[in-house]
Amino acid sequence: MTGNATTQKMRSHTSCRAFLDKPVPAALIDEILDCAQMSSSSCFLQVTSIIRVTDQTKKEAIAQGCKQPWVALAPEFWVFCADFHRDGLLCEKPALGWTDHFLVGCLDTGIMVQSAMTALESLGLGGCFVGGIRDCGELVTELLALPDNTAALLGLAFGYPKVINEIKPRLPREAVFMENEYRDPAPGVIDRYDETMREYYSTRTHSKKACGWSEQLEEIINREKRAYLLEHLKRRGWLEK
Ligand SMILES: Cc1cc2nc3c(=O)[nH]c(=O)nc-3n(C[C@H](O)[C@H](O)[C@H](O)COP(=O)(O)O)c2cc1C
Repeated sequence: MTGNATTQKMRSHTSCRAFLDKPVPAALIDEILDCAQMSSSSCFLQVTSIIRVTDQTKKEAIAQGCKQPWVALAPEFWVFCADFHRDGLLCEKPALGWTDHFLVGCLDTGIMVQSAMTALESLGLGGCFVGGIRDCGELVTELLALPDNTAALLGLAFGYPKVINEIKPRLPREAVFMENEYRDPAPGVIDRYDETMREYYSTRTHSKKACGWSEQLEEIINREKRAYLLEHLKRRGWLEK
């Protein structure tokens, strides 16, 4: 493989959802947190908080709420939250609730959680993002005692991998990387990718599927809408204007 140790590791990323029953040493947790916290931050507002969920009862409740058993089974489960609450406390009259604040919270938090993933994978661990916590946003908010102007965006379940999944092929470069102006994919590009994915889904070890990539898009897009979210976020101080 070309590249260096960092890029090789990043190119061999796969989500891990099955873990050994072995705790992650405190030194590795520190290392992951140091890396995550060094992520860039919009205007250096540092609007992300991470809640490490060690209470097994809470882990199980969240696992049930989002129907993802690995949340309870992973040695580590962290919830990454956009957080304007902490910054707000330090200001006299903070004008919160703007759409851009929400975007900033999402961007900073997404970048930080990927840094954590890259760090943990480089340390021989494996992990899986759990956006599914947004299925049970009210429950997570209550269990983790989240104040207004915070939003639990993404879970990260991780530990020592028990099973390493096959690498999932990505869209061809020409479909996602453009020069100077937007361009729809050329005819045949997605068909060829569907063929690659059909082969991948039919031969991988876990959750075999008999479809390509594009055929499942509409069902997923239509399913994953979490209609309660806008009102939930507004009630909690986000997206007022
Ligand atoms: C924002 C985000 C949310 C995700 N949420 C979940 C989730 O709730 N459950 C899950 O099993 N995987 C989740 N994933 C992992 C994706 O399913 C996975 O990255 C994708 O299928 C590609 O597979 P790979 O990571 O193994 O390459 C999430 C990924 C991202 C980026």
